[in-house]
Amino acid sequence: MSNLVTLQAHSSIGVLRIASPPVNALSRGVVQGIREAVDQFEADRSLQALVVHADGRTFVAGGDISEFSKPDFEAKTYNATLGRIENLDRPVVAALHGTVLGGGLELAMACHYRIAVRDTRLGLPEVLLGLLPGSLGTQRLPRLVGVRLALDMMLSGKPITAAKALECGLVDAVLEPMDNDALLAAAVAHAQALVKQGKGPRRTRERMPSMEGVAPDFFAKALEEAETKKAAYPAPRRIVRCVQAAATLPFEKGEAVEAELFEECRASPQSVAMRHLFFAERAAGKIPGVPSDFTPRAIRKVGVLGAGTMGGGIAMNFANAGIPVTIVETAADALERGLGIVRKNYEASAAKGKLRPEDPAKRMALLTGSLDVAELADCDLVIEAVFENMDIKKQVAKRLGEVCKPGAIIATNTSTLDVNVLADASGRAGEFIGMHFFSPANVMRLLEIVRGDRTDPQVLGTVVRLARTIGKVPVVSGVCYGFIGNRMLEPYLRESEFLMMEGASPAQIDRAIQSLGLPMGPCRMLDLAGLDVAAKVVVERGKAGGLPDDPSYRAVVQKMMELGRFGQKTGAGYYRYEGRTPVPDPEVERICAALAEQYGIARRSEISDQEIIERCVYPLINEGAKILEEGIAYRPGDIDLVWVNGYGFPDFRGGPMHMADTIGLDKIADRLDHYAAERGNRDGYWSRATLLGEMIASGRKFAD
Ligand code: NAI
Repeated sequence: MSNLVTLQAHSSIGVLRIASPPVNALSRGVVQGIREAVDQFEADRSLQALVVHADGRTFVAGGDISEFSKPDFEAKTYNATLGRIENLDRPVVAALHGTVLGGGLELAMACHYRIAVRDTRLGLPEVLLGLLPGSLGTQRLPRLVGVRLALDMMLSGKPITAAKALECGLVDAVLEPMDNDALLAAAVAHAQALVKQGKGPRRTRERMPSMEGVAPDFFAKALEEAETKKAAYPAPRRIVRCVQAAATLPFEKGEAVEAELFEECRASPQSVAMRHLFFAERAAGKIPGVPSDFTPRAIRKVGVLGAGTMGGGIAMNFANAGIPVTIVETAADALERGLGIVRKNYEASAAKGKLRPEDPAKRMALLTGSLDVAELADCDLVIEAVFENMDIKKQVAKRLGEVCKPGAIIATNTSTLDVNVLADASGRAGEFIGMHFFSPANVMRLLEIVRGDRTDPQVLGTVVRLARTIGKVPVVSGVCYGFIGNRMLEPYLRESEFLMMEGASPAQIDRAIQSLGLPMGPCRMLDLAGLDVAAKVVVERGKAGGLPDDPSYRAVVQKMMELGRFGQKTGAGYYRYEGRTPVPDPEVERICAALAEQYGIARRSEISDQEIIERCVYPLINEGAKILEEGIAYRPGDIDLVWVNGYGFPDFRGGPMHMADTIGLDKIADRLDHYAAERGNRDGYWSRATLLGEMIASGRKFAD
């Protein structure tokens, strides 16, 4: 028998014990071990009942996701083993703790009885990977908790608490928190009591799903919703069909429906893309030069400089994680305004039920305002989020270098400035780092972590760990203009502006880009962020000598700023606004036509959506390849994480680099060449990244 799973007798009770750290995932070895333990239990008639229990910090937390992509993957073996557990002629008790997810919950549901410690969470999160529960979860969950809740749980992927599981019948008893040995003892006692009471197997498959609250048109409506709101995703509509099968067909028929639809999901490019992101997120924490066993610095107190748009949101991240924060501003009114916005934000979350009523006060108690930088002397990490201005930031960095205690980490939230220059200004380059939060900083999951040329690996490792503690997706970038995300954004915006001058309307550009699944095209996005802010970035870059030698470069946004069209906040930008609704504005067409004439750009009456997509997205991908070639990003998956978590790139496309693989690198390169020839390769706009050429020559993909 595999040593990952054992069967031992505890007096007359068999204990099937799974021990596969860290989370007892269902690797092939574990699945085989379970099967062999069941063989053994079947043969040993001296055992009166079976307890299924897992070692370590959790019961089985899910399937082994890497298995799903293997050509010889099949769910049948595991499913058949679960069927054998359910069919056992003596009672089977699952002892649950930790996170009982996916294949772990499917195992628990094949058992006859379930007990759980109070902090256990139970769920079927497959939908988040573009999958449906493929080991009879879609058939057994409705039979245990009813059709409505089962469908909710599978469509959202969100786990429920043990208390909720008890209320809905998913578990039979909830135990006070206890260690794992005590849980095992309780489960054995539970099994002995069942035997004593003469209770036999209680098979989930033999139950009828509760149809409480299920109207005659319930499934039709659920299907319509899945097909409209989640049209791009493969799993939701198939989950509805599986649950409908559970509600209307015998178990074996439902089993066949689930098997067929699971396979469709697994093979879909969308699920492949979402699984790619899952692995990218895990890989992003592995940083070259930072040993996996490094000792992170303790971050017990954080300082934030500046309580503006970003500072307040940044501070909230730490307060949410229970870490006290001191926020320093230059003036009392700015400080009060900043803290006031944070308080309102918390109160709004509590009003929506996203926080408990007592949480806003608790979190606010962790925030201390001050007008004195010297009060940051005892912080372990200080993040500056003051105005985006090199002179001010240099002064601030220098001051922090003087004030912060030895060993403290000093970070900048700059979006565009040279982190190495600021690191030098601090006089502590080894402890200096970029932490580029995205707006709104308390909501957006991405944190670009910018390693300076001299950042200490321990400092880098500490900040990456800390990012996870505050619920962010950390991606490490080297120093360059715009880091990973904003640097790639630049050619995308460049082309959207050229297209406008050539005759495409903002609405057409946005529609074409949104057809890929982005929530907003470039014009809506900049209108929301502020065209003044966007134009200033271009102007500042020009002053620093970083712009191409092309007077028409990003001319539209600069014109907009000149005209006071700052976007949604002034009621007009690329669009005109009626409230928050963008309306196409003929004035914009006139502005663009005038610019075209000024710069000798030919206007065309028809520009295809395909051209818009190629011209905006392919140079963005090409820039991503350059970023890899220069070692700014470590992995293509890191770039994909930036775009999915920071810019709304659709997860079902896996990010721009994953999408490039699916389009074909040779095709992308051909189109870059095409536009270079057609448009003139001014300033090397269309020159292929060297890496792209090398990859095509050697037949490699970014996934390799
Ligand atoms: P903001 O103008 O809203 O806030 C800056 C705050 O810093 C102001 O409240 C100001 O009073 C305060 N401040 C200025 N000098 C100070 C000093 N010496 N000590 C303490 N406080 C001082 O600016 P915002 O938008 O919050 O930007 C801050 C930084 O975050 C900039 O570097 C910006 O590039 C970056 N960033 C901004 C994003 C955005 O969407 N707004 C996104 C990502 C980064």
